[in-house]
Amino acid sequence: MKIIMLGAPGAGKGTQAIKIAEKYGIPHISTGDIFRANIKNGTELGKKAKEYMDKGALVPDELTCDLVVDRIHQDDCANGFVLDGFPRTIPQAEALDAALQKDNETMDFAIDIEVPDDNIVKRMGGRRACVNCGATYHIVSAPPKAEGVCDHCGGKLTIRDDDKPETVQKRLTVYHDQTQPLIDYYRKAGILHSVDGTQSLDDVFSEIVKVLG
Ligand code: AP5
Ligand code: MG
Ligand code: ZN
Repeated sequence: MKIIMLGAPGAGKGTQAIKIAEKYGIPHISTGDIFRANIKNGTELGKKAKEYMDKGALVPDELTCDLVVDRIHQDDCANGFVLDGFPRTIPQAEALDAALQKDNETMDFAIDIEVPDDNIVKRMGGRRACVNCGATYHIVSAPPKAEGVCDHCGGKLTIRDDDKPETVQKRLTVYHDQTQPLIDYYRKAGILHSVDGTQSLDDVFSEIVKVLG
């Protein structure tokens, strides 16, 4: 099962992708998490990506596409994968399709989580993320069992550098300009499914499971 999560920053792509990965036993591949891990480890890729991420801009396609194509060819992706935050531009979607085509494969599902912009801005202020494993929490809607501590790995929870209100606004603008056109791209491919992302976490997940079967 090969799945793409679409949706604005803060729509809940990561939250739902983790649940999908668990239920269907496929890896969760988040380009944002990969870049943040590289930043934490001080790699060359991390240094380059940080310049763009801190501004709320997209990391250039050249730094992104090969990384994902390599990742989906690893052994653990044999039964599929859930992509979170990739593709984010039409050229990225085309690069993904081209890579799959070489193996006579296509994507199966593109799940668009719909949340209005004003709702997003409210959500982002309460988000906390684990510095260690990337798990995401919300101080109101999805709090950890112990304040400031990750339920999964005990790591410390922090506010992401790009969750400042002005950077969130910039990310939303970039989303509407560069990523939203993918909704039509996948509608034309016949694999688009939209879900209402303003529901509770569990209700959003039930709707997704109905789609995936
Ligand atoms: P990335 O890490 O992908 O960030 P994003 O797309 O902006 O999305 P977020 O991770 O902010 O939100 P999400 O949809 O995962 O929501 P979450 O589940 O956390 O990318 C970061 C940056 O990296 C980009 O800006 C770019 O620079 C770069 N980048 C990454 N991929 C790239 C690519 N392919 N090309 C170029 N550049 C790339 O949920 C948000 C909050 O809401 C949480 O607190 C959560 O608990 C809460 N929440 C979730 N669902 C609900 C609900 N139903 N009800 C109430 N609260 C909820
Ligand atoms: Mg995310
Ligand atoms: Zn953790």
